[in-house]
Amino acid sequence: MLTSAAFLIRQPIEDKVNQLLSQMTLPEKVGQLNQINGFDDSARLRLQQGEVGSILNLNAALPGPNPSPAVIVEAANAVQRMAVNESRLGIPLLFGRDVIHGFRTVFPIPLAQAAAWDPATVEQGAAIAADEATSQGVKWTFAPMVDIARDPRWGRVAEGAGEDPFLGSAIAAAAVRGFQGEDLSDPRRLLACAKHFVGYGGAQGGRDYESVEMSVRTLRDVYLPPFHAAVRQGVATLMAAFHDLNGIPLNAHRELLTDLLRAEWGFKGFVVSDWRSVIELVNHGIAADPAEAAYAGLVAGVDMDMVSDVYRQHLPELVADGHLSEAQIHEAARRILRLKFLAGLFENPYTDPARHRSTLLKPEYLQFARQFARQTMVLLKNEQLLPIDGRFKRILFTGPFVHARGELLGTWNVDGRAEDVTPLSQAVREIAPTGHELFFVENTDEALHLAQHVDLVVALVGEHPSRSGENRNVSDLSLPPGQTQLVQALADLGVPLAVVVFAGRPLAIPHETRLADALLYAWHPGSEGGFALADLLFGLAQPSGRLPITIPRRTGQVPIYYAHKPSGRPVGSTTEFLTRYVDLPYSPLFPFGFGLGYTSFTYHNLEISEPHMTGETQISAEVTNQGSLPGIETAQLYLRDVHASVARPVKELKGFQRLELQPGETRRVTFTVSATDLVFTSYNDLPRVEPGDYQVWIGPNSTAGLQGSFTLDI
Ligand code: NOJ
Repeated sequence: MLTSAAFLIRQPIEDKVNQLLSQMTLPEKVGQLNQINGFDDSARLRLQQGEVGSILNLNAALPGPNPSPAVIVEAANAVQRMAVNESRLGIPLLFGRDVIHGFRTVFPIPLAQAAAWDPATVEQGAAIAADEATSQGVKWTFAPMVDIARDPRWGRVAEGAGEDPFLGSAIAAAAVRGFQGEDLSDPRRLLACAKHFVGYGGAQGGRDYESVEMSVRTLRDVYLPPFHAAVRQGVATLMAAFHDLNGIPLNAHRELLTDLLRAEWGFKGFVVSDWRSVIELVNHGIAADPAEAAYAGLVAGVDMDMVSDVYRQHLPELVADGHLSEAQIHEAARRILRLKFLAGLFENPYTDPARHRSTLLKPEYLQFARQFARQTMVLLKNEQLLPIDGRFKRILFTGPFVHARGELLGTWNVDGRAEDVTPLSQAVREIAPTGHELFFVENTDEALHLAQHVDLVVALVGEHPSRSGENRNVSDLSLPPGQTQLVQALADLGVPLAVVVFAGRPLAIPHETRLADALLYAWHPGSEGGFALADLLFGLAQPSGRLPITIPRRTGQVPIYYAHKPSGRPVGSTTEFLTRYVDLPYSPLFPFGFGLGYTSFTYHNLEISEPHMTGETQISAEVTNQGSLPGIETAQLYLRDVHASVARPVKELKGFQRLELQPGETRRVTFTVSATDLVFTSYNDLPRVEPGDYQVWIGPNSTAGLQGSFTLDI
């Protein structure tokens, strides 16, 4: 006798899953492993036959570029009704979507979010995105992207938290907490997906989808930690990346997808492929045909096939031929069904059609987006120019971003709309104090003419989102063509010049830095980015962002990151033969962790509670706001393992704290370091902590701070 889905609701989840599985035919089990894109008549037939487990981009199937929220919810509910009422077992669908940095309310791009160095705010942003997205029927996001990236030529650097595993892990966990909350069945929460497992950011030449060659040590110490943090946080799903790692495509990487993820880390959720990445095993040259690709993907541990349809087409025959056992399919289906139960889809498969009206673009969500965007912008230079005050009566705003709307939303914005964005020109008119005469001019000739008659020029330059994100790699990190000349021409006029850079990546801007009196990095700041920038420029808020990634002087320095190995011939040592360029300084343009405010901070009185540490030690320092304005400082803790069995990074971030200090105020920041914080992957690829000397710094960025040391005695 068939057990109806309704009856299953009252049982413990594992029993429910078992009961359901015991009634499912092989094609129905395989169906749960199959994700399709959009929806059409043939999809309806598949769905009725129980051959679809998940749909992504449901609204790709709806007419028009921007269907109304009501239409989308109704479509999601209608398709869900088909799954529930028209398929034999009535198993609900899981609707997935790329909710990457906000939904209808768009937050700064993830790289910018990392620049806030504030996991609690990242968490809140993810929770808001979850609220908005679920109000439109989405229950699963393909975020957060937790790939470490040390090569800004790679367009997807925009989607992650930058170069550092410690900061990246804190942000990965925060984003998962925000999307998922405590209870996946909460209708306002999304299942998260940590992607792209793993090493994707190491693409050779910064070319997306390219091969990655990397040691096990680097993989374990740098690229895996944010994924581990997401798994520890209970992330529901992971996505297997497109590329091959040391010759093994991730979609066929059993050692990582199963041995590491399941056996070592105890991951209980499911793994989804990336877009057609299972069938692409044929292109990688490790599967002879789609059937072999399906076999390799499933055996490796890819539970759900995103749109390549090879599981549906080939897994049943692979079982019939005896290549796969039904138990292997069973296991993947079990993982997916378990999450469908945990997500409450059986109890509550539909979305309340009224919800979106009270959820999308709530005033408090927009207010939060504005505050978040302010926190992400990084002041890189300020020769007593900003904030703009009464010194500057006539102000010209120029450059390609003066009236930008949709451009502020950045890459992987799927649901935000340009019409929701207030451009900087309008935001400045709304918030600037009276007494300024304001000009907003996009045309260069007109701007150069006007610039001769004003007291201050603000040049808004940078890259369009079409140059940032997936498949948008660059070979040259300069500003796009023409913009350096614009900055030069404005600087030549001798008028005070502030340069604002919008970008999805660190751009190599040494000339602009030299020419500008003030330089503010605004990234792609989201729906409220115009207001946030105006607030900072006019001093209604303090810049507090810190770089989550190094800014190089020139493309040729890439990859450049602070936590490099020492080298036997480091710059600064006495020999003439050093690790350096003959045509460029060794140092970056701006180091990791760097950022200014409108006030200044000093560090003093470093204390180390246990200079001979066995279990743990406290490392602390006092921070004082020296200036006359309140400000926010991010105190950063770095360590160096001085001698070890393998070469260790010259510095590693091990802690950070944001402090809001009033003028003249001093506060002590304290970090606790324990032996587990000192673990690294040793010569035999196993984790180890080694006794001996450690250097320590507490300071404002990766190149400054108070220095001390302790010894680990174990
Ligand atoms: C391909 C991208 O690599 C991935 O990040 C995204 O989630 C999927 N497409 C689905 O859109």
